[in-house]
Amino acid sequence: MTTLNARMAELKVIPVIAIKDADKAVKLAEVLSENGLPCAEVTFRTEAAAQAIRNMRDAFPEMLIGAGTVLNAEQVDQAIDAGVDFIVSPGFNPTTVKYCQQREMPIIPGVNNPSMVEQAMELGLDTLKFFPAEPSGGVNMLKAMTAVYPVSFMPTGGVSPANVKDYLAVKSVFACGGTWMVPGNLIDEERWDELAVLVKEVANVVA
Ligand code: 3PG
Repeated sequence: MTTLNARMAELKVIPVIAIKDADKAVKLAEVLSENGLPCAEVTFRTEAAAQAIRNMRDAFPEMLIGAGTVLNAEQVDQAIDAGVDFIVSPGFNPTTVKYCQQREMPIIPGVNNPSMVEQAMELGLDTLKFFPAEPSGGVNMLKAMTAVYPVSFMPTGGVSPANVKDYLAVKSVFACGGTWMVPGNLIDEERWDELAVLVKEVANVVA
């Protein structure tokens, strides 16, 4: 197991974040770090993503920070420049995967069927995102793929407090990703105390 996988496995859940204002990133990172989830997958779905990552990294050098929804080499460069530890993509794009490998940056690409798992394995990957987890067959689909392939999965997409333990019980699952513990409106409205309660609850549920 790589150091990255081990750190994720210890956390068990990876907060997936869409942040609109990079000025809120340090406070957000503080709430996550101080309440048991010192980790963030900051998605490139907003313009603020790269700057938000940079702000988090400067303020919390030890935090595990990744870039999510990375779709091309340009975004890989932006994420690396901002200081990420890992990159996540929603789908399996061999061009993006190879570019990350060339830049020696861990990438966890999304897959949701056996053919995609095999293509990822062919590029030497053994750590994959199962996305979108619930619409793709959920825990049953994951168990079926776990029986066949020697890879680890991070299910994301429809994971919630109601099913997170079922996913974590599948032996190939090292961590689950999700947005439920970092609702965008709480970040936008700077409702940090409520966010802290939510983050702490999630950390306790999976502890
Ligand atoms: C992602 O960004 O990886 C997923 O859209 C997260 O899915 P969720 O909102 O169901 O947790």
